[in-house]
Amino acid sequence: MTDHPKHDVADLSLAAQGKTRIEWAERSMPVLRQIRERFEKERPFEGVKLAACMHVTTETANLMRTLKAGGAELFLCASNPLSTQDDTAAALVTEYGVSVFARNGVDTKGYYEHIDAALDGRPDFVFDDGCDLVNTVHTSRTELLETVKAGCEETTTGVIRLRAMAADDALKFPMVAVNDTDTKHMFDNKYGTGQSTLDAIFRCTNTLLAGKNMVVAGYGYCGKGVAARAKGLGANVIVTEIDPTKALDATMEGFRVMPMTEAARIGDVFVTVTGNRDVLRAEHFEVMKDGAIFCNSGHFDIEIDVRWLEDNAASKNSKIRHQTDEYVLADGRRLLLLAEGRLVNLGAAEGHPAAVMDMSFSDQALTAEWLAAHASELQPGVHEVPEEIDKEVARLKLASMGIDIDVLTPEREEYLTSWEHGS
Ligand SMILES: NC(=O)c1ccc[n+]([C@@H]2O[C@H](COP(=O)([O-])OP(=O)(O)OC[C@H]3O[C@@H](n4cnc5c(N)ncnc54)[C@H](O)[C@@H]3O)[C@@H](O)[C@H]2O)c1
Repeated sequence: MTDHPKHDVADLSLAAQGKTRIEWAERSMPVLRQIRERFEKERPFEGVKLAACMHVTTETANLMRTLKAGGAELFLCASNPLSTQDDTAAALVTEYGVSVFARNGVDTKGYYEHIDAALDGRPDFVFDDGCDLVNTVHTSRTELLETVKAGCEETTTGVIRLRAMAADDALKFPMVAVNDTDTKHMFDNKYGTGQSTLDAIFRCTNTLLAGKNMVVAGYGYCGKGVAARAKGLGANVIVTEIDPTKALDATMEGFRVMPMTEAARIGDVFVTVTGNRDVLRAEHFEVMKDGAIFCNSGHFDIEIDVRWLEDNAASKNSKIRHQTDEYVLADGRRLLLLAEGRLVNLGAAEGHPAAVMDMSFSDQALTAEWLAAHASELQPGVHEVPEEIDKEVARLKLASMGIDIDVLTPEREEYLTSWEHGS
């Protein structure tokens, strides 16, 4: 018998490989490493139980190590059925003493069973990525409302769901919107999603983007990242939007903007990153070119109507390449769906590079420390991360990159905060 914590992972024998990969990611996470070293000394989470529903990747593993170094007892489940790295999950159990409930490819029932298993740890604090864990506490595990003190949310979609809960007076404990820090969404959503989404498209199809029409649905932080990187590789980028200001922004950046009904006819590669449902649907599949490739990098698998393809394609060639399903329509056109319409950068590649998750997860670690000290002062609802944490993460990241910046002198500070000075 081993003394491993409770777990449900695919294969513990993958732990050695997982540990090597976790340590590789750590090399690009200097800010989080510094925080971990401080937590080892200060132990801000002594006696605290934390449940996290996050992508079980090497970067998340380094966040778990950081929280564990601070004294926390940890229960981790996956925030997406396809994003779990089974070797990382194994290493977290055997090498780092984290209770992990996550297997790659688990079905929806198994996904929620894992959330329940993580919640069985009766956490004091919760970390969520998409709001499924918090939602479960408020619906089927309401006994935990007595014990959960507060939590953090990682992504745009999760924050939107939390705000909807708060507006209905349904959110019963304070949740901090880590996604909304500048050092998270300006970098993770933009540069992380931009690079890793293209990485996933290449791993699946090895397509050449140069000269292709690449359609990006949604010009928010993620969409800007995807569009800019695709442009850099020579694609003709087309943006679809529902927000006039975002559409104007894309136009002035030099992208063509049009409705999806038009873009669907000319696109070679499509990426949805809207956080909204039914962005690519029957009327678009009906006019797409033979060989069109499409995928989703928004949080949930609701942006592409996969059900229509399943019900209406004449045949399907499953996994003709890595995470690539080919749907052959009655007229012979072949449409290529990546990662089953789930977020492609995690389902078909490794998610964001560690160097960008260094910032997101440093925000998480410092916010958790702040919550451990201040949760009792907060009302139920959605709260912002204190600005000092955001600035501290930016400062530490710049320092780790060897970059100095100018400082505000007292005279300049006085100028910026006064109203008397004119021309
Ligand atoms: N793949 C990843 O690793 C990753 C990382 C961060 C965020 N996300 C997820 O990506 C999604 C987008 O995040 P974001 O931070 O860019 O959000 P955002 O709010 O900045 O941008 C979303 C954009 O989509 C537009 N939009 C909404 N419905 C649309 C529609 N039907 N057609 C065209 N445009 C539409 C909105 O107007 C908005 O400009 C969210 O679900 C978020 O959780 C994924």
